[in-house]
Amino acid sequence: MILVFLGPPGAGKGTQAKLLSQEFGFRHISTGDMLREAVKNKTPLGLKAKEYMDRGDLVPDELVIAMVEEIILQEKDVVLDGFPRTIGQALSLKDVLKKHAKDVDKVFLFDIDDEIVVERLSGRRVCPNCGSVYHVKFSPPKKDEICDVCGTKLIQREDDKEEVIRRRLEVYRRQTAELVDFYKKENKLISLDSRKGIEDLYGDIKKAVEDDC
Ligand code: AP5
Repeated sequence: MILVFLGPPGAGKGTQAKLLSQEFGFRHISTGDMLREAVKNKTPLGLKAKEYMDRGDLVPDELVIAMVEEIILQEKDVVLDGFPRTIGQALSLKDVLKKHAKDVDKVFLFDIDDEIVVERLSGRRVCPNCGSVYHVKFSPPKKDEICDVCGTKLIQREDDKEEVIRRRLEVYRRQTAELVDFYKKENKLISLDSRKGIEDLYGDIKKAVEDDC
């Protein structure tokens, strides 16, 4: 099954994708995580992507598509978190999958207000070692600022500063929101109320996934 998690930054896509992959064995493919890894390792892709990411802009389609398409084809059940993010990416994904007699099965739209996004992202803390994600208020680590899983000191992402968050929201509206109509026309869209708490929201996603199994 190929699932797409679509929605503004901070809507909870990554949090829910991790839960789904833990319980059902989906491969969680986050283009944001892959790009941050490339930046950390100073690969040629990372060196090109960094300036876009720091500003809160999208990395050019051709770079992202080249990075992700091979991996998608290797897996049976995947959850795509943050990809596709433009019509160009969606069309390219469709083309590649079609060549292998596949298609996207469901698209979950994470619906949320800007002010909740700002609160969630400005309080987000991440582990630079294992990638675990926390929130100072909604999902705090057991020990202040320390990762529960590996004991590393948590950090704040560079693009989680308020002015960059607002820029990312603007970029979402300008370049990504049109995917809502794209997938609505394909009859694949399921809207989620992402204001709900982590567990309730997961319950909604799980039900939709189980209904289809
Ligand atoms: P990416 O890493 O994909 O960032 P994003 O889409 O902006 O998504 P986030 O990771 O910020 O949010 P999320 O929805 O996953 O929320 P989370 O679960 O962490 O992309 C970063 C950059 O990379 C982009 O700006 C772009 O430059 C580039 N990029 C990536 N993909 C690209 C592509 N396809 N094309 C071009 N460029 C690309 O939750 C947020 C916080 O809220 C956490 O602290 C969490 O604990 C908390 N939380 C989660 N759910 C809840 C809840 N239900 N209630 C309360 N708190 C919650």
